[in-house]
Amino acid sequence: MKTALITGAARGIGLATARGLHEAGWQVAVMDWDGPELAKAADLLPEALVIEGDVSKPQDVAAAVAEVTERFGRLDGLVNNAGVADFGPIRDTTFERWRRVMETNLDGPFLMTQGFTDLLAADGGGAVVNITSISGLRASTLRVAYGTSKAALAQLTLQQAVELGELGIRVNGVAPGPVATKLAMAVHSPEIIAAYHDALPLNRYGSEDEIAAAINFLLSDKASFITGQILAADGGFEATGIGLPALRS
Ligand SMILES: NC(=O)c1ccc[n+]([C@@H]2O[C@H](COP(=O)([O-])OP(=O)(O)OC[C@H]3O[C@@H](n4cnc5c(N)ncnc54)[C@H](O)[C@@H]3O)[C@@H](O)[C@H]2O)c1
Repeated sequence: MKTALITGAARGIGLATARGLHEAGWQVAVMDWDGPELAKAADLLPEALVIEGDVSKPQDVAAAVAEVTERFGRLDGLVNNAGVADFGPIRDTTFERWRRVMETNLDGPFLMTQGFTDLLAADGGGAVVNITSISGLRASTLRVAYGTSKAALAQLTLQQAVELGELGIRVNGVAPGPVATKLAMAVHSPEIIAAYHDALPLNRYGSEDEIAAAINFLLSDKASFITGQILAADGGFEATGIGLPALRS
């Protein structure tokens, strides 16, 4: 049976991804630093391996590797989804706020993929999907830490794809457009929501399941010759220049 570990799976896009894989017959492990929320998610995922831990802490990553090795003895898919958002002007972004975002969004996927490389390589090569963001594709106001962390994660994805391809491991990214999760709703003001509608040809937010479908495609054998790509699941945001509001009016 295929096995996958999804980080940040207590809710939102990570939980939808884990549920999609579970329904497709995969064995799943879910990791999150929010223990109570993770316990609630586990009720929706019978037989999942539940790991409470922080992806940015080397000791937690080592413990996760030990737990997955003991329970599954293999790993076919790793989804580096855990992320934090903190929007603010450059002048108000303290070093602590900057580091907090970088720790989870960038250090986490580096540590997790490095920690699980041997297990992913053991059975001929698994797949990694890093969750970036459209904020890493195009710059915008208030996202100095978040956008930079996601652009760096996209480059980390390419570095990992180039080097780990030797081991048969594929590494891709998914760059979601806006989805109304707890993370997004904490930082999307009414003005930001309106601005997204103005910038999206599909003129709406995406759903957790629409992002999970892209992630789970890249994990699957259907994507067996795809590596080093960032797939934007974004309602057309990346493709769009100026003019949509004028077209609509
Ligand atoms: N929602 C959006 O609009 C959107 C858009 C683009 C990208 N993303 C990205 O998608 C991913 C999932 O976001 P979401 O919207 O589902 O958010 P969410 O806040 O609903 O879920 C994120 C989960 O990650 C966990 N987490 C955070 N830091 C962690 C850490 N250091 N260790 C372990 N767990 C940690 C949280 O506890 C939470 O359960 C994130 O990487 C986010 O940046 C989201």
